[in-house]
Amino acid sequence: MNTYYFTLDLIQEAGRLLEVKKQQNFCVSCKNGNPKDILTSLDVELGEFITNKILAQYPDHSIHNEEAVEIAGNGYQWAIDPIDGTASFARGIPQYAISIGLLKDGMPILGAVLDPCTNELFSFRKGEGAWMNGEMLQPSAITDLKSSYVLFAAGRKDSQCEWAGESYKSLLTSVSKIKTFGSSALWLCYVAAGRVDGVVAGTFSSLDIAAAVGILNEVGGVVCDREGHPLEISNKSQRVYVANNQAMAGELIKLLESS
Ligand code: IPD
Ligand code: CA
Ligand code: CA
Repeated sequence: MNTYYFTLDLIQEAGRLLEVKKQQNFCVSCKNGNPKDILTSLDVELGEFITNKILAQYPDHSIHNEEAVEIAGNGYQWAIDPIDGTASFARGIPQYAISIGLLKDGMPILGAVLDPCTNELFSFRKGEGAWMNGEMLQPSAITDLKSSYVLFAAGRKDSQCEWAGESYKSLLTSVSKIKTFGSSALWLCYVAAGRVDGVVAGTFSSLDIAAAVGILNEVGGVVCDREGHPLEISNKSQRVYVANNQAMAGELIKLLESS
């Protein structure tokens, strides 16, 4: 079976399952007792569902599922975030996504992000394009902060509070609109779709949502660290800058990393 279409079918099946299951009772808890890190029983259930389907089709592949231990395999690695935006999901806020990406030797080669609340399905195949429900994605061409919409998420680390407060203040006087909502996978898809022009995130783990990184990179968008270097896909939680283009990434870094 074609792996891209396998991924699209799987994520849509997972989306239907999640939307049915959320009508029933599910448990909400915290990871490691941290009230800033919410987990539901459906994160675990959906992660297992997706993993089992992948392994039935590709038994030799490696699996990274945010909510389970790593499964080692060959140079192909699936990166699964069963619910990206659990905190919103747990409280009935329709701002979450499912993310499934496939990496070869650490580079995203195809993947999909589904917003089950709007049925927007974002996807890409490396070197071929990125789409939303079949329509080619295109970031905005905006390069100046004054006209830009920027998504800002302070993140979970207390150590970043000061930077986050100062940054928010700087953005207020520099950009057109500051937005925020609960799924980092969708943030990147929104940049790819031209809905926002940049994202500043205090804590960001790229491996879980490698599909979204692949989608944005495919249409020329930028995902970089605070020094402006392209972000390596990893499990590390770090401050990142995401933008429609290199110029916008540079402007954001200049504004928020100079003090
Ligand atoms: C979180 C969401 C959230 C972002 C956090 C992520 P999770 O993922 O993407 O928008 O601010 O940094 O950890 O925990 O819901 O999969
Ligand atoms: Ca998650
Ligand atoms: Ca996540």
